[in-house]
Amino acid sequence: MAVSATRPLDTAALRADFAFLEELVSGKPLAYLDSASSTQKPRQVLDRMRSFYEHEYANVHRGVYRLAERATEGYEAARRTVAGFVNARAPREVVFTRSATEALNLVAYAWGLENLGPGDTVLITELEHHANFVPWQFIASKTGASFRHIPIDDLGELRLETLDELAQEGPIKVVATGLVSNSLGTINPIERLAAWAHEQGAIMVVDAAQAAPHRTIDVQALGCDFLALSSHKLCGPSGVGALWGRAELLEAMQPFNLGGEMIRSVGLEKTTFNELPYKFEAGTPAIAEAVGFGAAIDYISEIGLPAIEQHEHDLTVYAMGRLSELDWVRLFGPPAERRAGIVSFDVEGIHPHDVAQILDWEGIAVRAGHHCTQPLMARLGVSATTRASFYLYSIPEEVDRLVDGLHKVKKNLG
Ligand SMILES: Cc1ncc(COP(=O)(O)O)c(C=O)c1O
Repeated sequence: MAVSATRPLDTAALRADFAFLEELVSGKPLAYLDSASSTQKPRQVLDRMRSFYEHEYANVHRGVYRLAERATEGYEAARRTVAGFVNARAPREVVFTRSATEALNLVAYAWGLENLGPGDTVLITELEHHANFVPWQFIASKTGASFRHIPIDDLGELRLETLDELAQEGPIKVVATGLVSNSLGTINPIERLAAWAHEQGAIMVVDAAQAAPHRTIDVQALGCDFLALSSHKLCGPSGVGALWGRAELLEAMQPFNLGGEMIRSVGLEKTTFNELPYKFEAGTPAIAEAVGFGAAIDYISEIGLPAIEQHEHDLTVYAMGRLSELDWVRLFGPPAERRAGIVSFDVEGIHPHDVAQILDWEGIAVRAGHHCTQPLMARLGVSATTRASFYLYSIPEEVDRLVDGLHKVKKNLG
């Protein structure tokens, strides 16, 4: 990944923020190499949530009493933090959702059902996480639109030379792609895809669940129309995520979930809907989780996204170098300069679940499976991979332990 020189992370100090590192697994310190799945939480985030529950908690947007006003201010401050984090034009462009998955479903349903029809094309990629694949496939089938994909090459990078051919098959209405692949770490050229999508008259939907924790996100520079992100992947709590959308598109859309809070007035004959962003936030939201999401963004922003990115890049270079010493390990994905801190691999003749099981006995947590990218696994010709993924608290010694662990896997099962 292209990164500028930054001050190295003080990992020893940062690691002191994470209580999970005190855990022993099989009597060994835990090497947590599964941050792409979900990240661990620093004390600062947990403290903020505890303090919010103890001193500021009530339902939001309802009460006129002061505690409710304080709770609403905490929740809306978190929205402003998310808006600043992605460089939204205004906080009302940020909708809190349960997750990145729900954010993507919101767009697929609320925008797709109204705007897609027979003859239109929805374009996703062969790299896509199921969260940005299945909703579009489903809505395309409901509306009669075609569902097509941008293929990848053998390194797991998008074959952009196929775009013109894809455009000849019918009007493209949606281009939906991840910024960073959760299985291979591939970084996709969103600016270029967004410009191309707009030339086709399509909207550009970006799944940034895997990118936002690791690199600066600027929705205006990316030129996209919608962007989904998730709190639990960037040191925040689970149960909350966000959708950023261009205000004019969100304004024009019908609501997704219906009920309390998202209405302006309800009568026996007719209901009218609230203004942005509340139109899309039916019911009591995940209030303390949103506050924790904001605290997590503050935490990683204070460390600095460029420094986090550089740290993960260095670890990825190191891990790829060490793993490529093992001629019975096959690495998937592009070179380190064009990927985030994710390394997927296959140990010759041994199923990834067995690899992960033996590594667990060594106190090493990695993910084994299809990583919610079954079409990608089919393209790679495997049913699953083993995946190590890094975050700001990961250190080279954990990569060394992974490599030692793989030698044990080979010795026991190879
Ligand atoms: C690329 C990508 N998109 C979407 C998701 C789903 O995110 P969430 O867990 O917030 O629904 C994930 C989670 O693994 C992911 O890696």
